[in-house]
Amino acid sequence: MVHGGLSLDFNHMTDIRKRLDDLHHRQAQAEVGGGEQRVAQQHKKGKLTARERLDLLLDPDSFTELDRFVTHRATDFGMAANRPLGDGVVTGWGRIDGRLVYVFSQDFTVIGGSLSETNAAKICKVMDLAVRNGAPIVGLNDSGGARIQEGVASLGGYADIFLRNTLASGVVPQISAVLGPCAGGAVYSPALTDFVFMVRGVSYMYVTGPDVVKTVTHEKVSHNDLGGADVHAELSGVAHFVHASEPECLNAIRTLLSFLPPNNVDEPPGVPVTDPVDRREERLLEVIPDSPSKPYDMHEVIGLVVDDGAFMETMPAFAGNILTGFARLGGRPVGLVANQPAVLAGVLDINASVKAARFIRFCDAFNVPLVSFVDVPGFLPGVAQEHGGIIRHGAKLLYAYCEATVPKLTVITRKAYGGAYDVMSSKHIRGDVNLAWPCAEIAVMGAKGAVEILYKDEIATSTDRAAEVGRKTAAYEELFATPYQAAARGYIDDVIDPRDTRPRLIDALQTLGTKRDRNPPKKHGCIPL
Ligand code: HXC
Repeated sequence: MVHGGLSLDFNHMTDIRKRLDDLHHRQAQAEVGGGEQRVAQQHKKGKLTARERLDLLLDPDSFTELDRFVTHRATDFGMAANRPLGDGVVTGWGRIDGRLVYVFSQDFTVIGGSLSETNAAKICKVMDLAVRNGAPIVGLNDSGGARIQEGVASLGGYADIFLRNTLASGVVPQISAVLGPCAGGAVYSPALTDFVFMVRGVSYMYVTGPDVVKTVTHEKVSHNDLGGADVHAELSGVAHFVHASEPECLNAIRTLLSFLPPNNVDEPPGVPVTDPVDRREERLLEVIPDSPSKPYDMHEVIGLVVDDGAFMETMPAFAGNILTGFARLGGRPVGLVANQPAVLAGVLDINASVKAARFIRFCDAFNVPLVSFVDVPGFLPGVAQEHGGIIRHGAKLLYAYCEATVPKLTVITRKAYGGAYDVMSSKHIRGDVNLAWPCAEIAVMGAKGAVEILYKDEIATSTDRAAEVGRKTAAYEELFATPYQAAARGYIDDVIDPRDTRPRLIDALQTLGTKRDRNPPKKHGCIPL
């Protein structure tokens, strides 16, 4: 039939409709993953399905799926008769707060979410797209590991992913949620990413499981005690965030991404600010105790300074003597690093050094300015620390601060003693704006230790030792337990009224919006790993 010059073939249209029916049937098949029974099993374990997770992670109706018709090509072990559409992983892109992200979500209901050659290729495809298009990648892991029926093809698939994790590092933010088992070499993909989220009672990660551990070392340990969420948050430092439920975890990933740029070329996203940028904070005068040896909670300082008191702390359960995390100042995201006097007096030890160093390098890679609050009595003494390599690990923190070229703002609230003064974003290692409160003490060491060394003989021969120690200590404190020696040399740009901390930081941050600084050209540095 000819209509308006257009030839319409009704038989052909009917054929397309049939094909549409077939397409919808296949789409529905891909949608159900491993089938209703396995979905019910997944729910019974207290876990969401791969697609339910994506629904919670992404903005409504923003998900575009790729490769839903991919099937594996294995034939051995009865696999020819078992070719589920999608092959155990849901991949594609979507939006979080309107911003593009690439995602993969392993589907445990399909052959245990195990990683086959084709399943790995799907993951690699979205990783390649993420890097090419400069958008973050979020991986939701829930898998029995390498697909046993595929042997080395599966191992190769893992290696293909590890390579992409490494090449994408520092180019686009990479976020992993472990929402089920993650064992063997499979742990190394999340481990190579920037932030690992786990859910209590749902996630576990280990290189070798309880059975192997029992055989090799005769230690008896449960899945949870070996590689549960809290173990990795508190002891190993593998997990950056632990949550009580999957919805809470997926929502936290959305929050984290709100602080981050999509890639290493773009700037972190600013937001409209309602908290006044010129807000003076009276309560900051009350935070520091009268006695320098008394602790206080650095969270209070952070909460009073940043926009709306909102601080997204990373690794809160690990090395509590240093705080790291994201906040905003005047609507602009910043990475905060702060000694915590309430834990081990805020001393730097191995774990604190490694935790902060990694965070600083992430911020530097992704153009997030660093704000450091300093109250540090030095490095932790002890045989365990020395033999554990505090020299090597402390050097990581020093290296990270030295190499960072993002804007670096520093506020010394109280102690900045010894080498730790140098390390904590001092002027000497390219601190851009270094401020101190009037109660700051910047010295080689505290008064007590210094007096004991400097006046050992005089004190020993004194008729009134206590009075002599008191006099010498007072003299030392007057000279050194202040910020003014440092300020006299310009090592501190200004000594400020603590109440002005927020407006002063926001003003300084604005001036640094156009900062340009480069390190010497090199293939890469040799950070003391
Ligand atoms: C093939 C797998 C599988 C795998 C699970 N399944 N893991 N199929 N390869 N790796 C299948 C199961 O056979 C089962 O199929 C279905 O998925 C669900 O698994 P269940 O065992 O019923 O579930 P559950 O009781 O919850 O136990 C989960 C589990 C267990 C603890 C993860 O499945 C398990 O131990 N899997 C093997 C783990 C493993 O050793 N993987 C290799 C790790 S080494 P049916 O049809 O029976 O329901 C590794 C190396 C990576 O990954 C190397 C990178 C360098």
